Amino acid sequence: MRNGLQFHDLSVTFRLPNTDIRAVDGVTADFPAGTITGIIGESGCGKSVLGLALLGLLPPYAQVGGNIYLDGMPLTARDARRRLGTEIGLIPQNPADSLNPARTIAAHLLEALLPRKLSRRSALEQAKQLLNAFGFSAPERILRAYPHELSGGMQQRVLCAIGSACSPRWILADEPTKGLDRDLRGQVQETLLSLKKRGVESMLVITHDVPLAQGLCNQVAVMYAGQILELGPDVWNRPLHPYTQAFLHALPEHGFQPLQGVAPKAGERLPGCPFAPRCPHASERCHRERPAAYHPQPEQMVRCFRYE
Ligand SMILES: Nc1ncnc2c1ncn2[C@@H]1O[C@H](COP(=O)(O)OP(=O)(O)O)[C@@H](O)[C@H]1O
Ligand SMILES: [Mg+2]
Repeated sequence: MRNGLQFHDLSVTFRLPNTDIRAVDGVTADFPAGTITGIIGESGCGKSVLGLALLGLLPPYAQVGGNIYLDGMPLTARDARRRLGTEIGLIPQNPADSLNPARTIAAHLLEALLPRKLSRRSALEQAKQLLNAFGFSAPERILRAYPHELSGGMQQRVLCAIGSACSPRWILADEPTKGLDRDLRGQVQETLLSLKKRGVESMLVITHDVPLAQGLCNQVAVMYAGQILELGPDVWNRPLHPYTQAFLHALPEHGFQPLQGVAPKAGERLPGCPFAPRCPHASERCHRERPAAYHPQPEQMVRCFRYE
């Protein structure tokens, strides 16, 4: 059965000495094989933690609840780590933390290509092709370089090359265009799209970059305070959740109308809808009771009583 990725009531709580932080809070979502899903939402809403839960890379003090299924089979953290770098590729968020300063780019790429069991010569050839695909016109020079010799944008593109080196079926990209200028963002979008031709079936792309999500994704999940409040193919044109509507209005191209109020503090759990304190439509019930997942159309999910 190859039917994609499912999260079922997934939660992640960081157990810190003085407090618990619920970073992911009851996420249920379906990411069918063959789709590119964008995950958008304000900083701190739990996007990266959701990704780390999928990859089995959370620290030991993180308590995970609920289930993840890949192609209908439960995916344990151990299983996920085993598949990382073969079936699942990661394009991580932060180049400075992800590249080893003492190793050349060639060493990073050769390691990422190891599971493909190529000769050193073909691996180097592959590494050059990958760098080429990610916009480097002189790959030999990049292979010899150390991370600090590259700009942040170049490091980000190297990470894209490393994450896709193993020709994974799934790719998780965490802010792949962060810190890149417009041209390079366009290049990363093209490259991510071209990965589909190289055997990558499905992607989860965590991003603040709305044009990237619009140009790349078949569906978009909107996260807020650890929850996915809306998931669907057409959130840009037909946003259903009041938070999605407010988020889109806050974008420069829609007049930059800032969202009133503040998001719940990290770790703060409200009994009702997390957006209720800022929502122009909130009723007393919204503050008290958490909305279920409603499906106005089969492929749309929204957690808001207005769609009950
Ligand atoms: N390793 C950690 N230990 C404790 N808290 C964490 C850890 N990683 C993330 N958090 C907290 O979890 C919440 C979600 O973080 P994150 O997923 O990184 O947000 P973002 O949506 O910006 O990617 C934040 O409040 C963050 O401070
Ligand atoms: Mg993040």
